[in-house]
Amino acid sequence: MHADIVVLPGDGIGPEVTAAAVQVLLAVGKRYGHGFRFSEHLIGGAAIDATGEALPAATLEAARRADAVLLGAVGGPKWSDPRAPVRPEQGLLAIRAALGLFANLRPVAPHPAAFGASPIKPHLLNGVDLVVVRELTGGVYFGRRERSDDRASDLCEYSVGEIERVVRRACELARARRGRLTSVDKANVLETSRLWREVAARVVRDEYPDVELEHQLVDSMAMHLLAKPREYDVIVTENMFGDILTDEASMLAGSLGLLPSASLGEGRVGLYEPIHGSAPDIAGRGIANPYAAILSAALLLRHSLGLDAEAACVEAAVAGVLEAGVFTADLAAEGQAVSTREATLAVIDRLQHDCVVVELRD
Ligand code: IPM
Ligand code: MN
Repeated sequence: MHADIVVLPGDGIGPEVTAAAVQVLLAVGKRYGHGFRFSEHLIGGAAIDATGEALPAATLEAARRADAVLLGAVGGPKWSDPRAPVRPEQGLLAIRAALGLFANLRPVAPHPAAFGASPIKPHLLNGVDLVVVRELTGGVYFGRRERSDDRASDLCEYSVGEIERVVRRACELARARRGRLTSVDKANVLETSRLWREVAARVVRDEYPDVELEHQLVDSMAMHLLAKPREYDVIVTENMFGDILTDEASMLAGSLGLLPSASLGEGRVGLYEPIHGSAPDIAGRGIANPYAAILSAALLLRHSLGLDAEAACVEAAVAGVLEAGVFTADLAAEGQAVSTREATLAVIDRLQHDCVVVELRD
């Protein structure tokens, strides 16, 4: 097949990890006979420097025309002045909203080889396999902001429709997995959460009676996620709770550098990005962990291109190199770390040896 992939490297380690993911996609294309075309565009701080805008119109247009978008990370100290008129993060929020990407899937399946890098005891990590479905285009991230000298406010709003569509997406996912859904809110305090809970309960009751639904308050969920992570299958929650819970969940996997994400909407184009940030402290040194970006490329193959075998093959290759102890600095023991490039080449090497091409496609 042919596919047009827009690459948005962004800031910090973004360019390094997206380059790694592109190399892996090229290797997949070669192995399976697909023609992936890549075009790079500006977003975030890099875009502000070049154009004054965090999401230039040309970037959005290219993304709309593409089959999928692969993104690195945005932000950094250079653009963090609180008085700055435009921030890199606005570019990311704007592209999510403009492409209608309301469901952000963040799978967490710790690999035994990385158990040692997790602060959580190994017996609690065994068999953990969950996906957080984070609502991505609503809530406090997109509410009206106000600021005066001595006050500030951020409005949190959700409509029934916004909740329904993300809960449905989570239910579909749960159906294809172990059939369990945990909806996370703060319904003992927030009105938006009371609506969230009501809508989630109704959607599951009326449309997905085969899905087993449980409600959790976000504070106790933060605890359960570490105390009994194996209990969870699909977790659905609003934008900011999902942001926070997934950074927490990355500690199950051992590093923020291991978690990929897929942002999906009703439309065809999806956006794929590691959940980690731009890590300005290690940018440009060639030591960033490329696995989250590579695993995001696997999600791109699966969700936007329908290439399940290819996606599974990339995931197996990453699992293989983890098993072989090919660790970047975030995971490695003192003195044992490999570079971004070495880690990427190890994945490509695995792909070339282990991935069986079952059928020829056109
Ligand atoms: C994420 C990031 C972003 C978010 C930031 C960079 C705006 O933390 O993708 O998790 O909060 O959504
Ligand atoms: Mn985040």
